[in-house]
Amino acid sequence: MLSRKASCDSHGQDSSYFLGWQEYEKNPYDEARNASGIIQMGLAENQLSLDLIESWIERNPEATGLRRGGSFTSAFKQLALFQDYHGLPAFKEALADFMAKIRGNKVKFDPNRIVLTAGATSANEILMFCLTEPGDAFLVPTPYYPGFDRDLKWRTGVEIVPINTSSSNNFRVTASAMEEAFSQAETLNLTVRGILITNPSNPLGTTMARDELDNILQFVLAKNIHLISDEIYSGTVFHSPGFVSISEVARDNGIGLDQVHLVYSLSKDLGLPGFRAGLIYTGNDALISTATKMSSFGLVSSHTQFLLAGMLSDENFTGQYIIENRERLRKRKEEMVMGLREAGIECLPGNSGLFCWVDMRRLLKSRTFEAEMELWRQLIYEVRLNVSPGLACHCSEPGWFRICFANMNVRTLEVAVTRIKAFTVSMHVD
Ligand SMILES: Cc1ncc(COP(=O)(O)O)c(C=O)c1O
Repeated sequence: MLSRKASCDSHGQDSSYFLGWQEYEKNPYDEARNASGIIQMGLAENQLSLDLIESWIERNPEATGLRRGGSFTSAFKQLALFQDYHGLPAFKEALADFMAKIRGNKVKFDPNRIVLTAGATSANEILMFCLTEPGDAFLVPTPYYPGFDRDLKWRTGVEIVPINTSSSNNFRVTASAMEEAFSQAETLNLTVRGILITNPSNPLGTTMARDELDNILQFVLAKNIHLISDEIYSGTVFHSPGFVSISEVARDNGIGLDQVHLVYSLSKDLGLPGFRAGLIYTGNDALISTATKMSSFGLVSSHTQFLLAGMLSDENFTGQYIIENRERLRKRKEEMVMGLREAGIECLPGNSGLFCWVDMRRLLKSRTFEAEMELWRQLIYEVRLNVSPGLACHCSEPGWFRICFANMNVRTLEVAVTRIKAFTVSMHVD
């Protein structure tokens, strides 16, 4: 009954990433009502600083009451009527400033080069639509965010060809791995249109080093393809080495943003995935114009833009928020890493993100993805933790898992860690 486009299986719905969520929905942990339920650790949500946002909203009722500060005149009619797909100028200006602030004001952003989208999901799909033909390829370093299979491939017909990385160099992207992926695409008769990186990385929880970004940029220029940098986690960097944006590296190399495009959203840094506020930033005029037209399919509500414009233009608030949010994430990550260490489990050293990339290789019965899936099933059904196996992130080595730590309160985290400790004891891991 459905079209081939809609029913094709490139969505990735069968991946353990989504299956884990389904299992969680059937038996969700609740401290008071279901203490033996499954704890959701497969969701990269940032709940640690929502209180800061809530109290800003309480202090600024005109923002939600659709009133303008000072004179308190109503903005209702203007917001309720037809929305121009260019978005509210005040919101784009505030976003441009916020993005610069997160990058230590080392780079500036022009609000006119922002295309608003309903989250980074929509931004990534629009970029695929605009930059590829069906059947073309994008190279993506592994391990990568499982949602990319859906976002990049499903409706556009794009193929993802992995740039495989290895634990031997902490999953860094090398020139030879990029060449290998490029050749693999050629062998498959696919035209490579670009590379999509995620910096800071989901699932690694690490930032890319400047020389790594330099290499990627040089590769992209040599092959004359596009580079998309999904920087949705740029505000979560809580430890050195600091964050280097591709916008900074391009500028320092004297390269404009014609071939280099940024994706951002407020889903992670502000913890607002429900608000669906994302963007594409590019120096490419044709892309801005086409992507803006395409954004009609997923606009950010004017009401949301108005509220966020008010919040992000409050410089005192954003300055304090960025610092406090990073500190809370740093502390939470440390609690997670220490808890896992006491259970005999180590994490990849990380400095960012809402998750740890956890090395469970020693818990595998064999170094295979079958053994990884067996361990995942034990974790979800026996230990009752929904975590994401590396296989769902297309990791090329079995035994790594992504564990999220910012979508719960600290007591729930302690319960999770206690369960993992009991599990590793039962497995005789010391
Ligand atoms: C790397 C990456 N890109 C995009 C998204 C989607 O974000 P949004 O909620 O803004 O659509 C996520 C969400 O987890 C992500 O991790």
